[in-house]
Amino acid sequence: MATAEQIKALVKSHTEGDDARFYSVAMQVAAAEAKQGHTDFATELRLLIDKAREKQALPLPGGTTITMAAPRGELAELLAAFYPETRLSDMILTPELSVRLQRILDEQRQIAMLKGHDLHPRQRLLLMGAPGCGKTMTASALAGEMGVPLLVVRLDGLITKFMGETTAKLRLIFDAVERTRAVYLFDEFDSIGTERGSGSDVGEIRRVLNSFLTFIERHTGTSLVIAATNHAHSLDAALFRRFDDLLEFPLPDQALIRQTIERRLASAPAKAKVDLTKLSVAARGMSFAEIVKACDEAIKGALLMDRNHLGTADLLAAIRERRMFLPRGK
Ligand SMILES: Nc1ncnc2c1ncn2[C@@H]1O[C@H](COP(=O)(O)OP(=O)(O)O)[C@@H](O)[C@H]1O
Ligand SMILES: [Mg+2]
Repeated sequence: MATAEQIKALVKSHTEGDDARFYSVAMQVAAAEAKQGHTDFATELRLLIDKAREKQALPLPGGTTITMAAPRGELAELLAAFYPETRLSDMILTPELSVRLQRILDEQRQIAMLKGHDLHPRQRLLLMGAPGCGKTMTASALAGEMGVPLLVVRLDGLITKFMGETTAKLRLIFDAVERTRAVYLFDEFDSIGTERGSGSDVGEIRRVLNSFLTFIERHTGTSLVIAATNHAHSLDAALFRRFDDLLEFPLPDQALIRQTIERRLASAPAKAKVDLTKLSVAARGMSFAEIVKACDEAIKGALLMDRNHLGTADLLAAIRERRMFLPRGK
């Protein structure tokens, strides 16, 4: 029979979603039973464990495996799980960003080979840039291309919700980083990367930042850890060297604005005949997200009025309307 300790460990690891520990305790039970001569039961238990493991593990190139289980127990409160189908080709990127993101994926695909030579792939990324310029979308696209889940941590939420115990929560998250191959996105990274908290928060934020730095430095597994911020200028200078790659997401220039509008209109139910040059001038200074929204508004307008075509004037009006959402002076 399994001991009381073993049963407790089984239940605890199950609630925490710690599959590795769950199977290791189950194997201990099987071994103890075999020792006592209960070989049939021990064999049956081992077979059950093998079967369960096979079912959870998906083969990846290079022989590594991933567990697709959704976060359970405490982790479910800390991480939001997504299974994106986004691809890099869905994004409008500057040639430079495109090359750099491709390089990250190439290194991930050859992870076993690189590790065989004692080299580490780029696995700690800092994404910087104005809101709506593709940071979250990039994390989704990398996960989609790698065929792994995207697990999102909202640091500002973590700090307000778990004041005083954030470091312990961060440890849980980084345990998962090592255990389950996925893309981990620390969004709103500036909420710990700067000292803009007030009063009693400041000490806590410092502590969380220091733990984050220690954890990320130790990270050598196969997961990708991404931090994203809209306020890179306010980040602590010591932070930057902890990352393997720093990626800037600028506002789209005229050519990229044009591509964004063109791509969005191409899949619109209403037929569009527009002056792209005029529109891309009108949308200068807007983010990708704002431009996509303006296009969507124009398309919706046409649909609501039962029109099956769209013109430059419709788009111009939608762009002007979205402009009102921009910070003043842009
Ligand atoms: N580079 C891009 N190419 C195409 N669409 C984009 C791009 N950047 C942003 N978008 C659009 O804007 C939306 C919001 O972008 P997001 O990645 O969440 O911005 P951020 O995280 O930088 O604030 C996306 O879902 C997408 O529709
Ligand atoms: Mg974002």
